[in-house]
Amino acid sequence: MKILVAGGTGFIGSHTCVALLEAGHEVVIADDLSNSSIAVADRIAQIAGKDIAFYKVDVTVEKAVEEIFDAHRLDGVIHFAGFKAVGESVSKPLDYYRNNLDSTMTLARLCISRNVSRFVFSSSCTVYGENIVPFNEDMDLMPTSNPYGETKAVSERILMDTARAFPNFSVSLLRYFNPIGAHESGLIGEAPSGTPNNLMPYITAVAKGKLEILSIFGDDYPTVDGTGVRDYIHVVDLAQGHVAALDRLKPGVHVYNLGTGRGTSVLQLLSAFKEANGIEVPYRVVGRRPGDIAESYADAKKAERELGWTAKRSIVDMCRDAWRFEKINF
Ligand code: WQD
Repeated sequence: MKILVAGGTGFIGSHTCVALLEAGHEVVIADDLSNSSIAVADRIAQIAGKDIAFYKVDVTVEKAVEEIFDAHRLDGVIHFAGFKAVGESVSKPLDYYRNNLDSTMTLARLCISRNVSRFVFSSSCTVYGENIVPFNEDMDLMPTSNPYGETKAVSERILMDTARAFPNFSVSLLRYFNPIGAHESGLIGEAPSGTPNNLMPYITAVAKGKLEILSIFGDDYPTVDGTGVRDYIHVVDLAQGHVAALDRLKPGVHVYNLGTGRGTSVLQLLSAFKEANGIEVPYRVVGRRPGDIAESYADAKKAERELGWTAKRSIVDMCRDAWRFEKINF
C-alpha cells in the first residue's frame, strides 16, 4: 500500500516509515520540519534501501495537502503531525488546539473526499488521566490536566464521529505509552531540540556530559520505590505496531494500547541504563512535576489479540539503543 505519513520525520514517524518500507509498503512523508530535520528523510531511505517521497508541508494547510493527494494514489494515512510537549501545551493552548485539531480535520476531510479509506492516528495514554492501572481501552477517558492530552482525546472523538458518518472510512486509534530507544543503526532516534522534557533523552544528555545531573521529580509516590512508574516501549516495537494496525485494519473505529504492559520506575530505568551501558547517571531528587501521575502502564492484551502484535524489546535494549544514538549523533 502507498501510505501518507504526516509527521514522518519525527521520532515515532521516522521509525514507522522504516517499518512500513521494510514491510513492503510505499511511503510519502509530509512534515513541516518544525521539530525534525530533512536529513531524517534521507536516513529513512538509507536504512530501508528504498526511495521515499517527501513534502515540506504544514498539514493544517488544506491546499498544500490536497496537492499530495492529487500527486499520489494513497491507500492510507498515518497521522503523527502534532505538537507534543505537555508543559508547552499549558502555556500555548491555542497553538496546540489549532495545530493538533486542524491537522486531524484536514487529513480526515481529504481522506473522505478522495476515498482514502484507512486512517491510523497517533494518540496517547494521557487520555486515560488518573485511571486505575493497567489502563484498558474500554475505560472512560478522564479529563486530562493539559491541553496536549485534550487535543488527543478530541481528535479521537473527531475521527470516531467521522467514521460513523462515512462507513468506508476505517480508523485505528493507537494510544502510546512511553516510547524510548532508537533504531539499532543509530541513524534515527529521539532528538529533542533544547533541554529535553522527557526522561530518556535527559538521561542520555547527562550520560554524554551535555547536562550536569538528572533531577528526579519526586520519590514520594505510592510506587515500588517512590519514583514515577511508566510503561516504556521501544520505538521500533511501537513502529511495528503501526504496521500491524494498518495491515489488520477492519471497517469501523478501533482503539489499541501500544505498550508492554509492564511498569518501570525512574530508578529502575537508571539501573537498566547502567546495566546496558556501564554508565552510572548522577541524579538528585527534587519536588514532583505538576501534572505527573504516579503510575501509568498498559493492559496490552487487545493489540496482541486483534493485531497479533506484542512489544518484544526489553528495557535494557531500549537503554542500549538510546545511548548508541546519542553517542553517534551528538
Ligand atoms: C517519565 C517519568 C517523570 C523527566 C510524556 C507525555 C506523554 C507521552 C510520553 C506523548 C515521570 C520522570 C522525567 C525528568 C524525571 N508523550 N522524569 N525527570 O510525562 O510519562 O509522558 O511522554 O504521547 O503524553 O506526557 O514522560 O519522560 O516526561 O516522564 O524524574 O527530567 O520520568 O516524573 O515519572 P511522561 P516523561
